[in-house]
Amino acid sequence: MTTFLVTGGAGFIGANYIHYMFRTYGDDIRIINADALTYAGNPENLKEIETRDNYTFVKADITDKEAVSRIFAENDIDTVVHFAAESHVDRSITDPEVFVRTNVLGTATLLNAARAAWEKEDGTYPEGKKFLHVSTDEVYGSLPEGEGYFYEDTPYAPRSPYSASKAGSDLLVRAYMETYGFPANITNCSNNYGPYQFPEKLIPLMIHNALEGKKLPVYGDGKNVRDWLYVEDHARAIDMVIKKGRLFETYNVGGHNEKQNIEIVKTIIDILKEELPEDDQRRAHLTYDLITYVEDRKGHDRRYAIAPDKIRKEVGWEPETMFAEGIRKTIRWYFEHEEWMAHVTSGAYQQYYESMYHV
Ligand code: NAD
Ligand code: DAU
Repeated sequence: MTTFLVTGGAGFIGANYIHYMFRTYGDDIRIINADALTYAGNPENLKEIETRDNYTFVKADITDKEAVSRIFAENDIDTVVHFAAESHVDRSITDPEVFVRTNVLGTATLLNAARAAWEKEDGTYPEGKKFLHVSTDEVYGSLPEGEGYFYEDTPYAPRSPYSASKAGSDLLVRAYMETYGFPANITNCSNNYGPYQFPEKLIPLMIHNALEGKKLPVYGDGKNVRDWLYVEDHARAIDMVIKKGRLFETYNVGGHNEKQNIEIVKTIIDILKEELPEDDQRRAHLTYDLITYVEDRKGHDRRYAIAPDKIRKEVGWEPETMFAEGIRKTIRWYFEHEEWMAHVTSGAYQQYYESMYHV
C-alpha cells in the first residue's frame, strides 16, 4: 500500500486531489494530509472523507521543522505531493513576505525532511520514493498576445512576488535533484477551476458576486489571457506523473484552453441565467451591467499558455473535461453549495475583500 504525504490538502487543488485519489484507489492507498489551515485551508472541503480509516489529517505548518520531521518519523512515506503554498497573486503584491516564508522556506524544510528520511548511507534512495512538487506556469512570466507557449525549457521569468516565490521553490527542488540525486518531479500547471476554490480567485469570485447582484470587478481592459484547466484533470495529471513520469523531469500541465478574462465573466453570467430556475429572484440582476472595469493588477501578466506536448507524449495524459462542460459543472456546484460559500465568505475573508476592493 502506498502512503502519500499530501501538503496543503485542505486547499482548493489539494482537496480535489484527495477526493480524486480516494475515488480512484479506495482503500488501496493511505493519505496523510498536512495543512496549517490558513485562511485558504478549509476542513469542510474534506468532510466526506475525514472518517476514512486510511486518511489522517495533521495540522502542521510546513516551515515547522519538528512537526514535519515527526510526520516522516512516524510514517513510512512513499510519495510526497506538495501543494501547500500561499497561492494568490494579489495577496503577494500586498504582503510578499509570507509567500517567501511558506513557498520557499516551507519547501526547503519539506525537502530536508524527506531527504533525511529517504536517503540511504550510500547516498541513493529506495526504489519507489518520489517527491512531486506542484508548481505553476506563472514561473515562466508573461507571453505576448497570440504568440508563443510555455515549454519545460522556457527560461524562468517570474514577475510577481507569488511567482518569484514559486520559482524559488522550483529551483530548490531542481537543486536537490542535481546535488543529491533526490527523487522528484516538478509539474507546472496552468489556471485551475472547479469546486472548492476560494472566492478570491477570478471564477468563484465572479460566480459569488453575480449571485449576490454585486459588481464584477474586471482588472484593466479585461483582455488578459489565462489557460484554464478543470481541477480534476490536474489531479489526474499529478497521479499519472507520479506513476509514469521519469525521475528528475519537469512536466507542464495544460489543455490549450486560452480565454480572455472578460470572456470568462460573460460566460458566467450567461450560464447562470440558463441554469438558475425560472422563478429564482436572482435572475433579475444577472446582466452584463454588473461588469465593472477596475484598476489593473500591478505588473499584471498579459497571457499564459502551456504547451502540454511532453506530458502527453511521455505520460499519456490529456485533459478529459472540456471547458464548456467544466465551467457549467463548476457554476452549478457553487450555487448548489451556498452553505459552503457562506462559510468561506464570512469573517477574515470579508475583511480581506473589503481592503482589496475598498467596498
Ligand atoms: P490554496 O491557496 O487553495 O490552498 C493552499 C493550501 O495550503 C491551504 O489549505 C493552506 O491552508 C495550506 N497552507 C498554506 N500555507 C501553509 C503552511 N505554511 N503550512 C502548511 N499548509 C499551508 O491553493 P491552490 O490553488 O489549491 O494551489 C495549490 C498548489 O498548486 C500551490 O502550490 C499553487 O502554487 C499550485 N498551483 C495552483 C494553480 C491554481 O490555479 N490554483 C495552478 C497551478 C499551480
Ligand atoms: O496560472 C496558474 C496560477 O493561476 C496559479 O499559480 C495561482 O495560484 C492562481 O491563483 C492563478 O493565478 P491568476 O493570477 O491567473 O488567477 P486569478 O484568479 O487571481 O486571476 C485570473 C485573472 O483574472 C487574472 O488575469 C486577474 C484577473 N482578475 C482576478 C480577480 C481576482 C480580475 O480581473 N478580477 C478579479 O477580481
